[in-house]
Amino acid sequence: MSSQPKVCQVTTWHETNPVPRSELIREVAGKDALYCALTDKVDKEVLDSAGPQLKCVATISVGYDHIDVEECRKRGIRVGFTPDVLTDATAELTLALLLATNRRLFEANKQVYNGGWKSWAPMWMCGQGLKGSRVGLLGFGRIGQEIAARIVPFKPTEITYTTRSLRTKEAAAVNARHVDFDEMLRESDFIVVCCALTPETKEIFNAAAFQKMKPNCILINTARGGVVDQKALYEALKTKRILAAGLDVTTPEPLPLDDPLLKLDNVVILPHIGSADIETRKEMSRITARNILAALAGDKMEAEVKL
Ligand code: GLV
Repeated sequence: MSSQPKVCQVTTWHETNPVPRSELIREVAGKDALYCALTDKVDKEVLDSAGPQLKCVATISVGYDHIDVEECRKRGIRVGFTPDVLTDATAELTLALLLATNRRLFEANKQVYNGGWKSWAPMWMCGQGLKGSRVGLLGFGRIGQEIAARIVPFKPTEITYTTRSLRTKEAAAVNARHVDFDEMLRESDFIVVCCALTPETKEIFNAAAFQKMKPNCILINTARGGVVDQKALYEALKTKRILAAGLDVTTPEPLPLDDPLLKLDNVVILPHIGSADIETRKEMSRITARNILAALAGDKMEAEVKL
């Protein structure tokens, strides 16, 4: 029988910009639970400030690389997150970003406004189609699988995936083949990053990786900016080592207005809107609240990070 708390006293941050760290550290003191977002770094300092009564940290995101989960584990603090509910929205945005990048939608759209559109011309604003291409996915969890399912109708020659362990059943559903990272780099016309940011994947796309990629390769990242060494990406795009990139995530976020990436035509950058679909975000916020209530009652959480 659930013993959910009847009344919770809640301290909230009312602005749309992230809570300043000093405010977070001050206000978390003495709380039993912390409802946070990916913009809040929940580290030892925050946990110390909260105090030993803190039972739960729940994030309104699927990624939890902003939370020191090892420190939470040591302190017996449960961690909630929001997988599944945002899978479709994120896969949809990934396809939108991929298509905007490979068919140069933003670059072409600019021409309409800046007088660059003189007439129809056979090779003007041509991109690289998905049909007949090789698409590699780094990561093949829920989001990766849904991205693959949405790519299939575009008739690629092959979809490959790189993960630590084989996902044979899930891969069969989209006819995807497991490859190692090197083969993905060497063979892909498109690479889609859909893995978590971990010490293993941090800046896995570095200068050496870009050297191995085909010059026509298009890199799409809707996972975490930290998976890519952004300076190396800039060099690879500027020197046409690779064809283009579509990024929904960057380092840092927001990207400063003077970042050199913003000067390139062969990159499409979005402001981290992968799951930004109204119903998805509403449900993410409800799940986060329910995760906290369950944790406070000592019940099973709807989505709990295995620590
Ligand atoms: C978004 O990036 C999330 O982790 O939910």
